[in-house]
Amino acid sequence: MRISEHLAARLKDLGVEVHHGVSLAERTSLEIGGATDELILHRYDRIAEVMRLLAGEQIPWRFLGGGTNVLIGDGELSWVALHMAASRPGMRVEGNDAYIDASADLGGAVTFCAKHDLGGMEGLIGVPGSVGGALRMNAGAYGTQIGPHVREVELYRAATGKVETLRGPEIRFDYRHTSFAPGDVMLRVKLELPSKPYKEIVAGIRVCNEKRRASQPLNQRSAGCIFKNPPGGSAGRMIDELGLKGFRVGGAMVSDRHANFFVNAGHATCADMLGLIGAVRERVRRAYGVELENEVIVWQN
Ligand code: EPU
Repeated sequence: MRISEHLAARLKDLGVEVHHGVSLAERTSLEIGGATDELILHRYDRIAEVMRLLAGEQIPWRFLGGGTNVLIGDGELSWVALHMAASRPGMRVEGNDAYIDASADLGGAVTFCAKHDLGGMEGLIGVPGSVGGALRMNAGAYGTQIGPHVREVELYRAATGKVETLRGPEIRFDYRHTSFAPGDVMLRVKLELPSKPYKEIVAGIRVCNEKRRASQPLNQRSAGCIFKNPPGGSAGRMIDELGLKGFRVGGAMVSDRHANFFVNAGHATCADMLGLIGAVRERVRRAYGVELENEVIVWQN
């Protein structure tokens, strides 16, 4: 989608950088995605004004964080991509509370907290992406999820057009699912973390890193696990048992290292990846009677 020069000028007045016709393949870990205008925000405190302008001109938008858990459609997209500038995100610690900007890198936030002797998030160290994306998905690994540590989230809500703060029980965190609405944009989080000596946290981080290196295709282009694990089961194990490692649709391939990671093994398109997801889901349904649910978020037109 291309916005008008008039709207671009008004956005620039609000400190937004406007780039026309950006390939979102460059913004995602799968390196898949079509083209659209990209609006880069430098300050969260202008977000409500920016959204008011977009709503006034009926411009649909998606807010892209680290781009590590999304599959974006091919071709010309019918929405603009909003993105936070990669300037230094705010992070500070007060006692056992950590205040982190949503644009911060998740691994960077875990390390920052560790340096202040705050632990509990060791398992999240190798999860790629931003703190905002981790909040939205309730990211987790190796027995850790971000949700239980969250005390407050400051967010922009398209439903009200305002920046609001949600506290404690106002947010529900389930397995790879939260009560945030599609029009919510994460801005800042307050986490409450247990005190732990830095050395102990680092030892825990090392163990998780080793496990991850041993089982996941870290040097290939993926969005992490494609499917959620079904209750009591393992999507990766089922796909592996069906002999589907290396199975391809176009440039999309089931990783030969971890069967729930689907990788861009060449010039994969979104259509290739959706074809592979559909074919694998169908094989699992036939063999196990289980309907796998996407973990990856799909943004088409
Ligand atoms: N397995 C296989 N073959 C495979 C992959 C796995 O047999 O190709 C078996 C493993 O041997 C193990 C079981 O399946 O017995 C579970 O595998 P693993 O320990 O790798 O964990 P997972 O359930 O596949 C989940 C998360 C990962 C997270 C790891 C580690 C989901 C969908 N995935 O994977 O998160 O890193 O646990 O805690 O919940 C993600 O969310 O994108 C993600 C990668």
